[in-house]
Amino acid sequence: MELDDEVCLCFHVTKRKLLAFLRVEKPRRAGELSNCFGAGTGCGWCRGYLRRMFSEAVRGGVTAAHEPTAEEYAQARGRYLRAGRGTPPPGATPPPDDGR
Ligand code: FES
Repeated sequence: MELDDEVCLCFHVTKRKLLAFLRVEKPRRAGELSNCFGAGTGCGWCRGYLRRMFSEAVRGGVTAAHEPTAEEYAQARGRYLRAGRGTPPPGATPPPDDGR
C-alpha cells in the first residue's frame, strides 16, 4: 500500500490522509479513525488495517507484517464483500472483477 492508495475503499480515504490524521489528531482509540472522512464506517473491511495503522502509530514503529499491494488489498475486500460480510455505501469503490 502506497501513500495515495485508498485504505478505506468505501469512503476513498488514503493512507496519506490517515497518517496525517494520526499525527495531527492523535486519536486515543483505533475507532476514532472513523473521524477521518468516515474511514471504516462502510463495509467494515478496512477496520483491521486501521487498527494496525493505529497500533503502529501508538508504538511509533512499523511492524514486520506483510504489507499488501493495493491490488491484493482490493481483491481481498472483494472476497470479503462477496462472502456477504459487509455492504459498501453508495459511491464506494466497487470490488475488482477477479474473473469469477
Ligand atoms: S473499505 Fe473501509 S469501510 Fe469499506
